[in-house]
Amino acid sequence: MASYRFSVNGAARTVDSSDPDQPLLYVLRNALGLTGTKFGCGLGQCGACTVIIDGDAVRSCITPISAIAGRSVTTLEGLGTPDTPHPVQAAFIAEQAAQCGYCTNGMVMTSAALLARQPDATLNDAKLALAGNLCRCGTHHRILRAVMRAAGRTP
Ligand code: FES
Repeated sequence: MASYRFSVNGAARTVDSSDPDQPLLYVLRNALGLTGTKFGCGLGQCGACTVIIDGDAVRSCITPISAIAGRSVTTLEGLGTPDTPHPVQAAFIAEQAAQCGYCTNGMVMTSAALLARQPDATLNDAKLALAGNLCRCGTHHRILRAVMRAAGRTP
C-alpha cells in the first residue's frame, strides 16, 4: 500500500492505494466522491472522464494514480459553483448545450483548459480542441456556440 499526495480542487488530498496503476477516474469517483467526472469508455477514447491537471485537459481513465503525485487536479466540482459558475459552465447553461449530458463534463473541462491557455480561441480552435470528445446526441453545434460565448465571440 502506498500513499499518493496531490491537490484536488485546491485542497491537499492523500489517497492510499495498493495499485499504482489505479486510474485517477476511480480515485476521484469512488474514493473522493467527485462524480462529476464520468466513466464513458474507460479506454481514453471518448473524453467523458476529462479533468484538468496542471492546466492540461487529461483523460483520467487512463491516468494512473502514481502519475499524479504532487500535481494539481481540477474536476468539474472545482471549476465553479451553482451560484458562481465558471464562464464555460455559464455559457453551456445559456446555450442549453446538453442533451443527455453524459459528455458534458469532458466538453466543459476541455473547453475550460482551452480558454485558460487561449482566451481568444476561434471556432476552429474549439473544434480542434473538442475533436476527441464524443457526443452521441449530436449536440455539437450548441456546444461550440457555448464555447464561443465563453470566449466572448459571436459564433
Ligand atoms: Fe476516459 Fe472515455 S472514459 S476517455
